[in-house]
Amino acid sequence: MRVLEIASEATPFAKTGGLADVAGALPAALARLGCDVTLVIPGHREALARGLAIEPAGIGFDVPLGGRRVPARILRATVPGGHDALLIENAEFFDRHALYGDYADDAARWMFFARAATELAARLGAPYDIVHCHDWQAGLVPALLKILPPLVPAATRTVMTFHNMAYQGSFPASDMPLTGLDWRYFNWRQMECHDRVNLLKTGLVFADLVTTVSPTYEREIQTAPGGCGLEGVLATRSGTVAGIVNGIDTTAWDPHRDRHLPRPYGPDDALLGKQAARMALFSRLGSAPPDGRPVVAFVGRLAGQKGVGLVIDLLHRLAGSGRARFVVLGTGDAHWEGELQHAAEAYPGVIDVILGFDEGLAHLVQAAADMLLVPSLYEPCGLTQLYAQRYGSLPVVRATGGLVDTVVDVSPDTVRDGSASGFVFPHVDAGELERALIRALDAHADCDLWQGLVRQVMALDWSWESSAREYLRLFERTLAQPPLPVES
Ligand code: ADP
Ligand code: GLC
Repeated sequence: MRVLEIASEATPFAKTGGLADVAGALPAALARLGCDVTLVIPGHREALARGLAIEPAGIGFDVPLGGRRVPARILRATVPGGHDALLIENAEFFDRHALYGDYADDAARWMFFARAATELAARLGAPYDIVHCHDWQAGLVPALLKILPPLVPAATRTVMTFHNMAYQGSFPASDMPLTGLDWRYFNWRQMECHDRVNLLKTGLVFADLVTTVSPTYEREIQTAPGGCGLEGVLATRSGTVAGIVNGIDTTAWDPHRDRHLPRPYGPDDALLGKQAARMALFSRLGSAPPDGRPVVAFVGRLAGQKGVGLVIDLLHRLAGSGRARFVVLGTGDAHWEGELQHAAEAYPGVIDVILGFDEGLAHLVQAAADMLLVPSLYEPCGLTQLYAQRYGSLPVVRATGGLVDTVVDVSPDTVRDGSASGFVFPHVDAGELERALIRALDAHADCDLWQGLVRQVMALDWSWESSAREYLRLFERTLAQPPLPVES
């Protein structure tokens, strides 16, 4: 099966969050299952500046964009998994300081990307069976493939995976001509939403198959507020939306072999490995050395979604208790950054806050931590809790989305049957988070119990193997069915 994966970011090229991890690892997992996979991403400045082996692919063409013709030059890189990655280079749109930044020309940037990826699909030799689009930045692709004069054979099927319903790529109606599609598609059943062009909706409406990144999130988005206004659109696709939990790249995230750690470790020497990581982390931060208190961490985007307000509340509630040290690694909303800095200044030696995006530090913090806070308001899947488990730290999570599907609350029963894998609290409530963390701290004080839990979570298998098989099964089923008809 030939599969073209289209995403706006992917490791090791450019990353702002979990989409990059998925778009980096899923193609390799599909390739291991025998698929012939090509990944298409933008040639972001960040991707070209990383010193990776990227070369001109000898392909260049002009892309129609609202009356202009905009050049796209294709670069090629061979990814460690063995599949090809193609980068769409255009300095006007992608030679930018940040991948996303509320740029004034965002509609043009991403409509260019979608159109260029679509044209590229037609120029790559043997036709693709599946064109798999991720998030709103690729949401126009299924519509272009269905509506424009045939660019790919009729047998090709499109798949739309959305990683977060809250980000929809909504642009003024005046941007419709940039899509290259007729105004007649600007209607409430297809591309329009509240009088604007909505690229996520477009993908959901036109793709042959729609998926999201966990079974619980798939259920949550069927109604408001989880569906973020698109629950009605999803209802029209009922029966064709699947929730597949993400896997993790077990090579990049492997405490046995992690080059970001001072002393790699496995389940048998986790205590030593994690102590070495704590020493390295605190010395790098210029903070007091580890003192036996458990380390509680948060790693993530500082956005409302992630429950940062709950974390800040928790810091003020527990920092004075002497029961734990806290480390926060994140970047995002200036308001949260300020509040976190404020908390760190109030409790030196207890709270360390690192504001910035640093892949190596994310690995080191996961290894140094005993517990990882993931108090999300909503969470389509979440990867940090999976990394935490693999690195022998216990996640403390709110029961939402993929966190429900990946973390089993520690209780006498789950400890006995070996399924316990973290601490879960039900509501968005600072008191509930505090009580869940106190349960975790109490468990940590019982050395035998804690070592058993660490062993248990480190043994969990979150590799991509079974989720990639699930994608493959759905791809095969979709290929066997007639294409979704286009209403015109
Ligand atoms: P989301 O995609 O919503 O941000 P995920 O949990 O799926 O959440 O993925 C987040 C990814 O981004 C993880 O790989 C995590 O380690 C990484 N990450 C988040 N914030 C930072 C940061 N400040 N520095 C380094 N890595 C980060
Ligand atoms: C999104 C979601 C996150 C998910 C990631 C990868 O960014 O917020 O929950 O893990 O995509 O699918």
